[in-house]
Amino acid sequence: MQTMAPPLDAHLIRKDFPILQREIHGHPLVYLDSAASAQRPRQVIDREREIGRTLHANVHRSVHTLANETTAAFERTRDRVASFINANRREEIVFTRGTTESLNIVARCWAEKFMQRGERIVLTRMEHHANLVPWIRLAKSHGFELSYIDYDSDYRLDMESFEKSLTPNTRLVAVAHASNVLGTVNPIREITKAAHEIGAYVVVDGAQAAPHLPIDMQNLDADFYAFSAHKMLGPTGVGVLYGKYDLLNDMDPWMTGGEMINRVSYFDVSYAGLPHKFEAGTPHITGVIAFHEAIEYLDKLGMANIADHEVELSAYALRKLTELPFITLYGPSTAEDRTAVFSFNVQGVLPDDIAQLLDADGVAVRTGHHCAQPLVEAFGCSSTVRASGYLYNTKKDIDSLIESLKRAYSLFAS
Ligand code: ALA
Repeated sequence: MQTMAPPLDAHLIRKDFPILQREIHGHPLVYLDSAASAQRPRQVIDREREIGRTLHANVHRSVHTLANETTAAFERTRDRVASFINANRREEIVFTRGTTESLNIVARCWAEKFMQRGERIVLTRMEHHANLVPWIRLAKSHGFELSYIDYDSDYRLDMESFEKSLTPNTRLVAVAHASNVLGTVNPIREITKAAHEIGAYVVVDGAQAAPHLPIDMQNLDADFYAFSAHKMLGPTGVGVLYGKYDLLNDMDPWMTGGEMINRVSYFDVSYAGLPHKFEAGTPHITGVIAFHEAIEYLDKLGMANIADHEVELSAYALRKLTELPFITLYGPSTAEDRTAVFSFNVQGVLPDDIAQLLDADGVAVRTGHHCAQPLVEAFGCSSTVRASGYLYNTKKDIDSLIESLKRAYSLFAS
């Protein structure tokens, strides 16, 4: 469960992030690419270093003291994740390499086993490829039907379109909690309620929501929920697949090998129980243990406070960006139910050219299709600029972005 904490002070928080003291091309770094990967506070960096010095052995194997301590620390993160998202049981938390792997496990181990030819998967038009390509691939190989929920003129999910897509043959709804391109936060509780009423299951790509919003599995009632540590102040190479116990329990493993077995003979195998059945091979031990520190950091600040901070940052950024007449913004026009992600194009200038000029001012943004190619192409372009904020970003960062954009545009306009 989330804990209460005083309102968030981004200026103070920045002091915990050594990288934010860096200069890029002689300018203070303005990091606006957290949707791609968030920066880590020194608490996480120090913990990683400390683990390297004092706590490395393989997990779940040997009985020596170091191995026992390492295993205990690894499993403590599982408990911490379970409480952070209010899961029913620790066994519902599977460690993976990231959101992409988590979603692929659902496709390969649940949908392939439990869905029948002709059944429907409902998606949104704002999915990241991680929650799109696995389903397209399965639809092609297994004869599933795909259907897409539209978004409205303000880039919010069109709930009428959603209701209509829930046909009797719908078996699965695969939806992003928050769009990595638009910043739109989708109404997951409403979606799971309607899907469950017709007997369909819901898998949520939470990569862009878990770092920014309070996440409560009992409230959201998602059947599966996937997210990554590196977008929430933790190390890269660590992800989480949450799944309801009975669903995970009925699934067969995807990757097989060491540590995921109960018993192996030369001609047969029985699998380990949850969650180890899905954790074949040596995991990212240091990453998982250090992820605990990232969750502690977020929880101390309070996820509700982080969300409030981002609403304030978004309201400011939206106002400033819409004042620029040469900008086309793709995403909700208001800050509520929105993360601080701003995708836009600059009239007459290629996104990569803009990004390079911003970089010369120390402003880091992402360009491209953001692994959501169909969505970006629906805007009538192949690429956008994307600025994405997090708990350490201030209004001053937005001002730097705006000033740099003005400079870049005037350079091209002249
Ligand atoms: N999915 C990440 C992004 O949106 C990498 O940038």
